[in-house]
Amino acid sequence: MFDVNEIRKDFPILQREVYGKPLVYLDNAATSQKPRIVIQALTDYYEQYNSNVHRGVHALSMEATDKYEEARHKVAKFIGAPKAESVIWTRNTTESINLLAMTWGRDNILPGDEIVVTQMEHHSNHVPWQKVAQDQQAVLKVIPLTKEGTLDVSDIDSYITPKTKLVAFCHVSNSLGTINPVKMLTKKARAVGAKVLLDGAQSVPQMPVNVKELDCDFMAFSGHKMMAPTGIGGLYVKMDILEEMEPFMRGGEMVLEVWNDRATWNDLPMKFEAGTPNIADAIAMGAAVDYLSDLGMDNVRKHEAQLTEYALTEMQKIEEIDLLGPMDVDIRGGILPFHNSEIHPHDLGTFLDREAIAIRTGHHCTMPLMRAMGLVATARASLYVYNTEEEVDKLVSVLKDALRYFGDGAKRAKRTR
Ligand code: ALA
Repeated sequence: MFDVNEIRKDFPILQREVYGKPLVYLDNAATSQKPRIVIQALTDYYEQYNSNVHRGVHALSMEATDKYEEARHKVAKFIGAPKAESVIWTRNTTESINLLAMTWGRDNILPGDEIVVTQMEHHSNHVPWQKVAQDQQAVLKVIPLTKEGTLDVSDIDSYITPKTKLVAFCHVSNSLGTINPVKMLTKKARAVGAKVLLDGAQSVPQMPVNVKELDCDFMAFSGHKMMAPTGIGGLYVKMDILEEMEPFMRGGEMVLEVWNDRATWNDLPMKFEAGTPNIADAIAMGAAVDYLSDLGMDNVRKHEAQLTEYALTEMQKIEEIDLLGPMDVDIRGGILPFHNSEIHPHDLGTFLDREAIAIRTGHHCTMPLMRAMGLVATARASLYVYNTEEEVDKLVSVLKDALRYFGDGAKRAKRTR
């Protein structure tokens, strides 16, 4: 296991103060902080070999191309993808899912087909499938939740049926922390010949994720939640499916030959990477993967589970808040949503902010989930490798201050579960 205090030294931002107090960064599900080697990888690219990729015969371009493709190999290995070409660089999870919806989705989902999502999906894994369903006259089905915030699979065979073409779901819910039963859902999908899209935005940063073992057909993920810069992410697609997929965007680099009236496509993965790509951030994502691999993803997950257990225990002691999501850390990531029916989450978030504690408040881009839970918003703390028990203690202590500050209403608030 690693030493969290040593890890913290690698993150320059964790040394800063906010309002004269040490920063307690608990908004990791929104975006993670970056270690020095990631920041350095960006600087090195711009200072040493800034150049376009796959185009130049000069030394800088070849160096940039090597580093850019090396990063793809690192990411592919990190997620267990058998081939580097099966990982397409995108801006983020959202772009990955839109790419898939606008290519494979439009070409393979036909009138009367069914697409299955869950009630806990982020908008990015829900809204693109609404569009495909509308355009293709397909049916969008939503697997409901239990009161504990897990998927209600008691009637799963009425959701995943022989008409299902795609089952799209998050590995870990960004709003509840729930870790979904990937293998079970994949097995169900396979049994009816459906494809599986895994939204790995919250899992890839926190636990070992192996697309081959999980047997998903597609996986979308973002760099910025796993220590890489913003603006870079990936889409994994099984090779045989990727080879059949039409391009997403058309233009430079994705073509092999172009005539006045037609064009042929470049090899994978360039076929899906039209235009000058996000070279620097892809290379820095390779550095982030190096950093996480050095820590060991088993250790990263172990730390997450231990700290989550501690946080759940301490937060459950606060009478005035409802803690959402499953309480069993075996099926829960380090995401801690809470609310008090008398206090708006923004007020709690602002109070915590004044003590330099950063959390997220709002609907977390999961409005259908909020609606299903009868809420408009929650406050959400989320943990990562550099967070400590002391930081959780600080959260709990300031939260108690906030509840005292906002007064009797907080006490009167009825617990909803
Ligand atoms: N999807 C990110 C979150 O959950 C932004 O906060």
